[in-house]
Amino acid sequence: MHNIQDIIEARDFILSKTDQSPKVGLILGSGLGNLADEIENPTSIPYSEIPHFAKSSAIGHANELVIGTLNGKTVAAMKGRFHYYEGFSLDEVTFPVRVMKALGIENLIVTNACGAVNTSFAPGDLMLITDHINLVASNPLIGPNNDELGTRFPDLSEVYSKELRNIALEVAKKQNISLQQGVYAWWSGPTYETPAEVRMIRTLGADAVGMSTVPEAIVAKHGNMKILGISCLTNMACGILDQPLNHEEVIEVAGQVNTKFVGLIKGLLEAM
Ligand code: HPA
Repeated sequence: MHNIQDIIEARDFILSKTDQSPKVGLILGSGLGNLADEIENPTSIPYSEIPHFAKSSAIGHANELVIGTLNGKTVAAMKGRFHYYEGFSLDEVTFPVRVMKALGIENLIVTNACGAVNTSFAPGDLMLITDHINLVASNPLIGPNNDELGTRFPDLSEVYSKELRNIALEVAKKQNISLQQGVYAWWSGPTYETPAEVRMIRTLGADAVGMSTVPEAIVAKHGNMKILGISCLTNMACGILDQPLNHEEVIEVAGQVNTKFVGLIKGLLEAM
């Protein structure tokens, strides 16, 4: 389990590489890392160099922290993230969020590629996360609580900031981007769900299912950050269409929505 000293060491290392002081954190999901290429005056720091960061190996992830400006805001963008299914502990998965908070970041935009469970959604749609369901029998806050980082029993009545969601809806409207809204269910992976599991997930009240985001959002909420979650629905979840799923398709569709996704995030940064 990481301690405050680890967080401080990671923060100080990052601050030794840049004079910029990021205000917004971005976690870029599978196939969505291109956004980091638009960051101006970038300082890119490989995760492998940052003290106490784990190393990610997922395809479609570049594994670096990019600090710079995007549409007038100083951002710290995670190009690639750590997944539970890679074998990282939830402490390792969420450590970068602790470091972002220590850097002074109060607003966190978390993105992902996921499957559409709601049959009125279509591949290529973007979805604003309104709430989540934790289907993984674990929680990143299990273990001793450090009161300096947050409270023992955090309230999750509004994980995904209503204020930021309203800004996102306005930006989407202005840009003529259709933005779905719904509940994201966290599935551990690395297997995709079975058709029966997708039916279960729909019955439980979720609109989308994916293998990330929830641990980071829980830790950000623990740290009292404001969170905005945006999902790229890359495919209909298993069993909805009569066809198998594959990761290449996920990356391909995420790439196809790149223009829309980048436009939305940039507009958001401007409006925040
Ligand atoms: N299920 C879980 N995770 C995913 C999916 C899916 O259908 N698509 C992309 N990530």
